[in-house]
Amino acid sequence: MNTLNVIPLGPGFAAEIRGIGMAEVANDAAAYAAVRAAFEEHSVLVFRRQPVTDELQVAFSRRFGPLETAKAASRGEGTPFSILTNVEPDGSLVTPDHKEALRARANQLWHTDSCFKIPPALASVLSARTIPTHGGETEFVSMRSAWQRLAPELRARLDGAYAWHDYAHSRGKIAPHLASERERSAMPPVSWRMRWRNPANGRDALYMASHTFGIDGMPREEALRLIDELTALATQPDQVYQHRWQAGDVVMWDNRATLHRGRPWPEDQPRYMIRTTISATDDDGLDAMWPQRSAA
Ligand code: OGA
Ligand code: MN
Repeated sequence: MNTLNVIPLGPGFAAEIRGIGMAEVANDAAAYAAVRAAFEEHSVLVFRRQPVTDELQVAFSRRFGPLETAKAASRGEGTPFSILTNVEPDGSLVTPDHKEALRARANQLWHTDSCFKIPPALASVLSARTIPTHGGETEFVSMRSAWQRLAPELRARLDGAYAWHDYAHSRGKIAPHLASERERSAMPPVSWRMRWRNPANGRDALYMASHTFGIDGMPREEALRLIDELTALATQPDQVYQHRWQAGDVVMWDNRATLHRGRPWPEDQPRYMIRTTISATDDDGLDAMWPQRSAA
C-alpha cells in the first residue's frame, strides 16, 4: 500500500489525501482503514485527479457503510446516485425558475445532508463531472469547532437537547411548495440529539442545519431564533473551507461534524455533480442520537 499523505486545507479541519486513491480504498482493506482514520480526524477529505466512474464511486462509498437511495422525486430516485445539476436529460440547461434551479438555491443554505431522514447520513461523497469556469464552489465549516466555541452554559443546555428536522422546512425558505406532497409524506419531520459524539475519538459536534425547525421544550419562535444564532456562530467567514472544484475532484465529508453549502455559478454554464450518501449506523454514534421521548 502507498503511504497516505494528509495535507491540511481548512481552519482546523479538511485535508487533501495524497498517495491513496478511491480505487485503493475500494480494493484494499488497509487503504480503507487509513482513509477512514483520516475521515474521523479531518471531517472533510479531498481527492484530486480521480478516475471517477459511477461504479468506482459506489465501490469506494460502500466501504464506509450502507448507501442511501436517492430521495423521492429527486433526480436519481431509487438509485444510489443523487444528481445535482442544471442540465436536463436532453442536454439543455434549466431556466432559473425550474425545480432543479430552486433546489440548487436550497443547497446554498448551510446544511448537513439527510438529518431529516431515518437513519441520517454518516458521510457524503461528491464527484465533479462537469464544472463551470467559475463559481459553483462548495463551502464547509466544522461543527466540532462550533461546539467548542459555544458559551459553556449554552453548550450544557444543548448537550441534552433534541431538535426537529424537516426537508420541507429548508425548501420552504426558497419557495413555498418546493417540497411536494409526495416528498413531505415520504419524509415526515424527525428529531435527533443536538450533540453528536464520535465514538472513534470522543469528539462532540453540534448537530443542526437549515432543515432544523424546532427544539423540544422551547417555543417555536425562540427555537428558530436560536437556530439562526447557532448557524451564524458556526459559519463565521474565518471558519470556512471553500473548495474550488477541478476536473477529477472528489470530496467526502462527515455529516455528523460539518455543515456545507453550494455557491452560485453562471446560469448559462453546465454543472453536473453526483453524490453518493452513506447512512449512519450505531458504530458511528447513532445509537446515542435517538430522542428520549417523542413530541411533535
Ligand atoms: C450536496 C450539496 C453542494 C454543491 O451534494 O449535498 O449540498 O456545491 N452540494 O453542489
Ligand atoms: Mn448537501
